[in-house]
Amino acid sequence: MASTRAAAEKARVLVASNRGPVSYQVGEDGSLHARRGGGGLVSGLSAIGSDAGSVWVCAALGDGDRAAVRRADGGLLPAEETGGQRVRMLDIDASVHAEAYNGIANSVLWFVHHMLYQTPLEPVFDAEFRRQWGSYEAYNRAFAEALAEEAAEGAAVLIQDYHLALAPRMLRQLRPDLRIGHFSHTPWAPPDYFRLLPDDIAAELLGGILGADRAAFLTRRWADAFTDCCHAVLGPGIPSGTRIGVHGLGADADFLRKRAHEPDVDERMAALRAEIGEGRKTIVRVDRTELSKNIVRGLLAYEQLLADHPEWREKVVHLAFAYPSRQDLAVYREYTAEVQQAAEEINERYGTAQWTPVVLHVKDDFARSLAAYRLADVALVNPIRDGMNLVAKEVPVVSDQGCALVLSREAGAYEELGEDAFVVNPYDIAGTARALHEALSLPEAERAERSKRLAAAATALPPARWFLDQLDALTDQPS
Ligand code: G6P
Repeated sequence: MASTRAAAEKARVLVASNRGPVSYQVGEDGSLHARRGGGGLVSGLSAIGSDAGSVWVCAALGDGDRAAVRRADGGLLPAEETGGQRVRMLDIDASVHAEAYNGIANSVLWFVHHMLYQTPLEPVFDAEFRRQWGSYEAYNRAFAEALAEEAAEGAAVLIQDYHLALAPRMLRQLRPDLRIGHFSHTPWAPPDYFRLLPDDIAAELLGGILGADRAAFLTRRWADAFTDCCHAVLGPGIPSGTRIGVHGLGADADFLRKRAHEPDVDERMAALRAEIGEGRKTIVRVDRTELSKNIVRGLLAYEQLLADHPEWREKVVHLAFAYPSRQDLAVYREYTAEVQQAAEEINERYGTAQWTPVVLHVKDDFARSLAAYRLADVALVNPIRDGMNLVAKEVPVVSDQGCALVLSREAGAYEELGEDAFVVNPYDIAGTARALHEALSLPEAERAERSKRLAAAATALPPARWFLDQLDALTDQPS
């Protein structure tokens, strides 16, 4: 078992996150199918090579994952299914996981950091919340214990995101020898909003992260908000001497450009072209269906554009890809229905026999997303708040003829892309409609120039560099 792993097999670099780099589905015949995920962490950890003694600790997220854990050898999944990475999946009790992940992480912490509460979604901190908080602690403890077992003396551990805010301090108590980093992929709420949380919970969350040697964020703005919260909740100064870092994850240009020219993407482009129709411009958005992404206001802004500028009717199509996310939560299911309804209403109001104003796709298909990126004249990225938003970075890198970007000033990506984007206040529907009009009207040469500059800024820190920079900063730091 993992706890008896020989010293020589212990890991020098560890990553911990709720969602791991691989997930399992149970086929109709009962067989297990592994599916590798993408994203910055996956390419980051691959960059250090699988033989360098790394382990990724993650949670089992469904029946398939749980079955895979039961047949795992010494707690580790078969390397051929994980792309060579050593992955330890934790089979945390399903109700503990559900309360920690759905109840605390995705309902409370996600809502606080994205400032999503509004009547009737006010926070409720009652006895049920306290029980869920107990599960959040147990879930964090399961990670801390697994990391403590897997880590070699003095190893570097990179703990990811709001699911695991308590794990750094728990791990520090178990293993004072380790170098511990925490990375937040979300925004961080400003103190007045963060202090919606009960005082003891706010202090636990901050103290948990301060158990790390380094707490890192996607932008300076989120890092400053974290420091401000520490001052407001814990008193002046960051008590443990934790260092604060900023690493603005960029798009993976090499991977994206290669992947976007494979035959399945070409096929999807042909299908999308048929849906769009000849000679029309395209406005593209690709998101998880997620309240913070502000999809409904984006659709309303597009509708406003068609109302204010009849010259665009029949001349533009909005490709809106909204992929289901966190469907265990009623509020996400309701939002998914709202998105669908908003798209249908626009099509009913403005559609003609030859023209469908909004083409909404809800089935997650990465090749089709890339095809839309290639066809984009305008990318619409209007989140209420977003840690970074990689779509804003990816579309300019992939688009065939260069695209204009309509970008929320509340996305982390705004810090790097704001100068060449059409910047919007995400709540301002009329303002977003105006920005869409300006973006569609941009002369081609200027659009190509801007798109080039956007792509250069978007790729300044590719995932492998982003990951290695964090590792260097952690290991260079005096303990
Ligand atoms: C955000 C979070 C990630 C999370 C992802 C998908 O980007 O920062 O930690 O994995 O959303 O959400 P999910 O709940 O499906 O893992």
